[in-house]
Amino acid sequence: MTARGPRVPAHVATTRHLCAAYPLVSEAGLGHQGVLIGRDVLGGSFVYDPYALYQKGVITNPNMVVFGQIGRGKSSLVKTYLWRQAVFGRHAWVVDPKGEYGPLARAWGVAPVALRPGGVVRLNPLDTVEELAGPGLEARDGVQRRRVALTSSLAVACLGRDLVPRERAAIDAALSEAADRARVASMPAPTLPQVVEALLAPGIDASQALRTTRAELLEDGRDVALELRRLVHGDLCGMFDGPTTERLRLDGPLVVLDLSAVYHSPALGVLMACAAAWLQSAVRSQHRHRIIVVVDEAWAILSNLGVARWLQTSWKMSRANGVANMAVLHRLSDLQSVGTEGSEQVTLAEGLLADSETRVVYAQSPGEVARTGELLGLTDTEADLVTQLRRGMALWKVGRRSFLVEHRLASGEHWLTDTDQAMIDEPAGDQLPAVAHADSVDPG
Ligand SMILES: Nc1ncnc2c1ncn2[C@@H]1O[C@H](COP(=O)(O)OP(=O)(O)O)[C@@H](O)[C@H]1O
Ligand SMILES: [Mg+2]
Repeated sequence: MTARGPRVPAHVATTRHLCAAYPLVSEAGLGHQGVLIGRDVLGGSFVYDPYALYQKGVITNPNMVVFGQIGRGKSSLVKTYLWRQAVFGRHAWVVDPKGEYGPLARAWGVAPVALRPGGVVRLNPLDTVEELAGPGLEARDGVQRRRVALTSSLAVACLGRDLVPRERAAIDAALSEAADRARVASMPAPTLPQVVEALLAPGIDASQALRTTRAELLEDGRDVALELRRLVHGDLCGMFDGPTTERLRLDGPLVVLDLSAVYHSPALGVLMACAAAWLQSAVRSQHRHRIIVVVDEAWAILSNLGVARWLQTSWKMSRANGVANMAVLHRLSDLQSVGTEGSEQVTLAEGLLADSETRVVYAQSPGEVARTGELLGLTDTEADLVTQLRRGMALWKVGRRSFLVEHRLASGEHWLTDTDQAMIDEPAGDQLPAVAHADSVDPG
């Protein structure tokens, strides 16, 4: 307005009234409980906490999915979010396929658990917390079912096809046998080598229970055994093929499973599923509530139908334990591009989204938005918008509400998130906060 123009008196109102006066422009926000994420583009700060929102009934589950093209700031959001949640005493466990959560771990005084073929740390994905499942046969059944589900998923993923009934029966029989052998050897859980061994040398009891011969049962499970053997004797051995390394430091505020050594392996999804399976039972065994579990680069799991199915069911389970899951993906169509029956992938995508009521959408390509806008519940305007978002800006869909949020990095947080710099050289040590202790394995 020029100095000579008519003077219109300014309209002054409280923020509470403004959202009623301008209903299509101004949002009342999500309240002030939680951690500061950044700036709500329509005004004010944007604060988020899944547990607070759950209590207020804004969302019915605490899980979050973060979508976006590479380099848009997805991992930066996760890292700063965890760092800021630490103020409230929240703990986090992270599956880190690119090995980029090291600075965050060091700032928290812990070292990432580095998993590499032939390395010193082993995690047993078949670990389960029997005492938490309760006593008796029923609990044992539940444990067996979980192990069968995981092993079958791994087999589907390794074979690249669905299992036939004979193979499922062979896996079931092999897991029972491996569990018996583990009990005799006073081991807390069977291991994948024991399962492979039981598949390749089935016992007489197992074959009789299935009204077949040992030779036939061996044939039924042979393909599965040969594929799973890769994790035990092949190029991927030495990570998930034995009892979990003792004295792993799991009591810290942050546990990071660093899988960067296998980031370029075609089996990354399978290895991440093993890591996530172990992590979920370990989280439960720590008896903690309100833990945030992050799977970064989750497309690697989700682009593999076998392990994607498993991840989705395990998300449902962890909800009951007060775990808030976060999955970071490039795009939703990762899930739909697997190539087998389209309908199941859509069901999986829908299930995953139904279980994650917070969806953070960074910039997407127009083609992607056209394909998946409906699944994400984007309006036409929102769909247009997400193709134009710059780095750090995202559309937050929280329950039924939408916010356009600029994620702000504090000046002291760049060392935490700078993946560009990490491509060029090592972050300077003096940028990191002081470290109390940094060993993933307690020397005893
Ligand atoms: N909100 C932000 N403001 C400024 N820089 C950011 C922001 N978010 C991310 N960055 C920078 O962008 C780069 C890529 O971010 P990153 O989180 O690794 O992307 P993505 O995980 O989406 O691939 C990093 O160097 C990071 O420091
Ligand atoms: Mg990232």
